[in-house]
Order: sequence, then structure tokens, then C-alpha cells
Amino acid sequence: MIEFNDVHKTYRLDRQKKVTALTSLTLSVSSQEVFGCIGPNGAGKSTTIKLLLDLIRPDSGSITINGHPANNEASRARVGYLPENPYIYDFLTASEYLAYSGRLSGMSPAAIKLRSEELLTKLKLDQAAKRRISGYSKGMQQRTAIAAALIHDPELVVLDEPMSGLDPLGRKLIFDLIAELKAGGKTVFISSHVLTDIERLCDRVGIIVQGSLRYQGGVSELTLPLEELFLQVVAEAGLSEVK
Ligand SMILES: Nc1ncnc2c1ncn2[C@@H]1O[C@H](COP(=O)(O)OP(=O)(O)O)[C@@H](O)[C@H]1O
Ligand SMILES: [Mg+2]
Repeated sequence: MIEFNDVHKTYRLDRQKKVTALTSLTLSVSSQEVFGCIGPNGAGKSTTIKLLLDLIRPDSGSITINGHPANNEASRARVGYLPENPYIYDFLTASEYLAYSGRLSGMSPAAIKLRSEELLTKLKLDQAAKRRISGYSKGMQQRTAIAAALIHDPELVVLDEPMSGLDPLGRKLIFDLIAELKAGGKTVFISSHVLTDIERLCDRVGIIVQGSLRYQGGVSELTLPLEELFLQVVAEAGLSEVK
């Protein structure tokens, strides 16, 4: 479903300075798999996700979704994306924002209404659905952004730190929603620092440290708790700076 092949990415800071964000990333995620991408702050997780969504381009290497290059429009039609810092039009209500997101995906008003009610109920936003998003808590805004990412029932769901800013109740709602996506046969690519959730939700994990994929494997084959493995892999990589 997803293939990264020998991908390099640098960001140019000014004329002379460059930051290496990813070096030689080779990674594949199968259809219907839930893949957890973990790593310290600044490791390259969001860069990986933005490359997948073709929001940025690699310096070299290839990225494909379902066999199509990531920069092909066909690749993105069935993809839902939650950015790390979602920008939502907060002068709208959640209902209006979902309707807007659904229309961008070419959905009919009837389909939008059905799906929007389903998601708002699942994410416990139904009571607030007719109020402006600007008055929502951080958790409610995050849940609204997740609902918008899922409005068109995408086959591939890409979530960049979906649990950030959520209280334990909100986290549980998102956890259950991802578990439901998994049960429904969707492919999910998720980055998160909540390793207990990653451990319980994901089929496979990848650990990125300073732009390199240092570990990938099946969660059921782990011989250590994920947090211990994470700390071990980071220590072995000799992280030079904590961001
Ligand atoms: N737009 C940007 N311009 C310059 N450097 C960036 C930019 N985005 C990310 N970086 C750098 O690239 C590296 C990887 O960042 P990122 O992919 O955001 O990491 P993560 O999501 O794992 O925290 C970091 O060193 C970060 O500072
Ligand atoms: Mg990030």
C-alpha cells in the first residue's frame, strides 16, 4: 500500500545551511495494516508523513501509494490526513466544517449528512456540532480535525500525533475509532508518542531516530515493552541533541 524507497530529504534553512530530515528511508506498509511510526521529537516522523501526502518532495528516492507515485493525484483520492497542527476554520461549526471537508472530497450532501452525524456522535461532538469551533476545547478541535480527515471514508488514514492535546477520555475516543478503522480493514499510518496506544493498536512499528529508520518489526514479535525498546534504540543511535 505504501512504499518508501531510499528516500532522502533535507530542508534548506538559508543559502548555506541545510538540515537533513531523512536519510535513506526504506519502509513499506501493507494494505489493511496499522503501522506506528515513533521516534523522538525532530526524528523525521512528520517529514515522512508530509512526503507521503506530497505536501513536500524528497531530494531523492521514491514514494508510492498503491503503486502510484505519491505526487499522482490518484494516490490521494482515498487518503484521509490529520496534520500535526491542524488548521481548521474555527469561525465554522463542526457540522459546517465537516460539510465543507466532504464537499472538497466530492461527496453528495446526503452522504455528507449521514457520515457527519455518524462521526460527530462517535467522537462525542454531537452536542457541540452547531456551535462555533473557536469556542471548543483543544481536545474537541482535535476530534473535529480527525472527523474531517475521515469524512470520505478513506482507505488509507494518515494520523500525525492524533492523541496530542487530548485528555484520557478524548484519547479513548480516538483509540476506539482507530481500532474500528483497523477492524474495518483500513490501512492506518500513525505517528505518536503514546507508546501504550501504539503497542495496542499497531500491527507493526518503525522507530526513526535522527532521520534514519533504526528498527521495524511486528508488535507481536516484540520481546521488550515498546517503551524499553524505544529507549534502547535511541540510546544505540547515540542521539546528539534532545529536541
Ligand atoms: N520546514 C522546515 N524547515 C527546516 N527544518 C525543518 C522543517 N521541518 C522540519 N525540519 C527539521 O527536520 C527534522 C525532522 O522534523 P520532523 O519531521 O518535524 O520531526 P518529528 O515529526 O519526528 O518531530 C528536524 O530536525 C526539524 O527541525
Ligand atoms: Mg512531528
